Amino acid sequence: MTDKIALITGANKGIGLEIARGLGKAGVTVLVGARSPERGEAAVGTLRAEGHKAEFVRIDVTDAETIAAAAQVVEEVHGRLDILVNNAAVLNRQEGWVVTETPVAAVRDTYETNVFGVIAVTNAFVPLLERSAEPRIVNVSSEVGSFEMMTNPDSPYYMLKGVGYQASKAALNAVTIAYSKHFAGTAFKVNAVNPGYCATDLNGHAGHRTPEQGSRAAIRMALIGADGPTGTFESEEGPHPW
Ligand SMILES: NC(=O)c1ccc[n+]([C@@H]2O[C@H](COP(=O)([O-])OP(=O)(O)OC[C@H]3O[C@@H](n4cnc5c(N)ncnc54)[C@H](OP(=O)(O)O)[C@@H]3O)[C@@H](O)[C@H]2O)c1
Repeated sequence: MTDKIALITGANKGIGLEIARGLGKAGVTVLVGARSPERGEAAVGTLRAEGHKAEFVRIDVTDAETIAAAAQVVEEVHGRLDILVNNAAVLNRQEGWVVTETPVAAVRDTYETNVFGVIAVTNAFVPLLERSAEPRIVNVSSEVGSFEMMTNPDSPYYMLKGVGYQASKAALNAVTIAYSKHFAGTAFKVNAVNPGYCATDLNGHAGHRTPEQGSRAAIRMALIGADGPTGTFESEEGPHPW
């Protein structure tokens, strides 16, 4: 068991809720980050009913005011943060599949959450993570952000042609590397994870994995010890090609 404190963004449903549940099972106090108080509190109620230590933290990763307020609340209540899981993301259907016809606004909207939101939230919480003995940042990426998966004709994702979501996850991988380099030689571990194709609202429940299966890589990387890796991209099975 542990007295660690973790914030998971977009933790009210899907893979984020399962990451919260898994960390809760490990004894971690989970701060359920959600933009909707109703959906966030409902998830907290579910987790508490299962015996986990869960608290709601309102955070919209595209809204600087809620990010700052969330960091202030966590500082006042807990004084530090041990684990930050940047899980919240969107898939904007308006981007379509024809790159030459993709509305830039749809791509910008995707980047606001999937890339800029991660940078904004991470920077806001770094001062609290610096107070942890074992700070961990886990960025929930995707295999469709992997250049290997998108350029290898044998990959099941080779035929995907959208430019917003995929590019946002490739950018998130680059963001992960940048932060891992910044914190090289410190106690921080910064890693990206691939949940695999999971049945969630994001994809109309088309995925073949469960959200619980999708949570496993993030939970593992959230709990790695001092000998664990940093600056890596991981799936449930182990290292994933960039
Ligand atoms: N499902 C897959 O097959 C798959 C595969 C690879 C990677 N991923 C990644 O896994 C992560 C979780 O996705 P999921 O499949 O569980 O999707 P999901 O069920 O749609 O959940 C997404 C979560 O993000 C939240 N969110 C969206 N925009 C937000 C914002 N601006 N501020 C705060 N929260 C926000 C949503 O909150 P609301 O309920 O308020 O909308 C929701 O809690 C994402 O990073 C996704 O890219 C998923």
